[in-house]
Amino acid sequence: MTKDLKIKAGVVGWPISHSLSPRLHGYWLDKYDIPGEYLPYAVKPEALGEFLKSLAKKQITGLNLTVPHKEIVLPFLDEIDEVAQRIGAVNVITVQKDGRLFGRNTDGIGFLTNLKTSAPTWSSSRSSSRSFSRSSSRSSCGAAAVIIGAGGAARAAIVSLLDDGISEIRLINRTRARAEDLAEIYNDPRITVCDWQDRSKYISGAALLVNTTSLGMKGQPPLDIDLSELPLAAVVYDIVYNPLETPLLKQAKLRGNFHVDGLGMLLYQAAPAFQDWFGRTPEVDQGLRHYILEALR
Ligand code: ATR
Repeated sequence: MTKDLKIKAGVVGWPISHSLSPRLHGYWLDKYDIPGEYLPYAVKPEALGEFLKSLAKKQITGLNLTVPHKEIVLPFLDEIDEVAQRIGAVNVITVQKDGRLFGRNTDGIGFLTNLKTSAPTWSSSRSSSRSFSRSSSRSSCGAAAVIIGAGGAARAAIVSLLDDGISEIRLINRTRARAEDLAEIYNDPRITVCDWQDRSKYISGAALLVNTTSLGMKGQPPLDIDLSELPLAAVVYDIVYNPLETPLLKQAKLRGNFHVDGLGMLLYQAAPAFQDWFGRTPEVDQGLRHYILEALR
């Protein structure tokens, strides 16, 4: 195959050197022997519009977006899928044959696929916790999730859980006003905003606890929460993946809760983009996990 037939994709961010996406997509390109390339692009926020205009000329078909571009990219796109519009962010762009830029968001897919794959008994529409619903009559026949945080990752988690049929979301953020803004945007009776200082209380009866903040990440303080009110059947999910076992997950593991780390979310959000651009559904396997973990070490 000639060089020109290579499918070109990449990831754009500022800074970009930390991104694991080139390693991740490179693993799949090698594994499936696809004549493609996936490169990192360091682009300042003020230069994003110009960079996007140059994609067709550079023959780049696909682009991932990372911090700080996921939200600011929206006005530059010709079409944005419904889920990305609701999340308010785009992490995948595909350049159409006519040069139009189509944006979607696969973070919610990554979040949910990781949850369902890692905790196969998880069901949003039916509680896996027998002691569930002590604190809410509304949720007596479904699962309640507690989401900590109100940033972009929280939005992806909220949209995917609502779409998956969750019965209740208790949204808790240090800055309560940000959580209230999200509750207003989604305008769904299943979302309740709860006080940050009472977070250890609001996990009572929950089937899922998710940390979407950076607390627990290398160099950050841990998420300070007392898990004693959390049912033992509840799943504890931390979207942080560096370290893989955060203090929150360590705490959950010690008391016997099922726990899900954040690495799978990174891997599963990448798979649909790879499929869009390179035409093959890639497998998220142990080899890939180890390969990415090596880079984190
Ligand atoms: P992302 O898009 O990755 O979710 P973000 O939009 O910056 O990032 O959101 C970061 C989230 O982590 C927010 O919910 C933030 O809480 P605030 O809205 O109060 O800022 C939360 N967060 C970050 N550092 C925190 C800390 N030290 N304590 C509590 N929450 C923190």
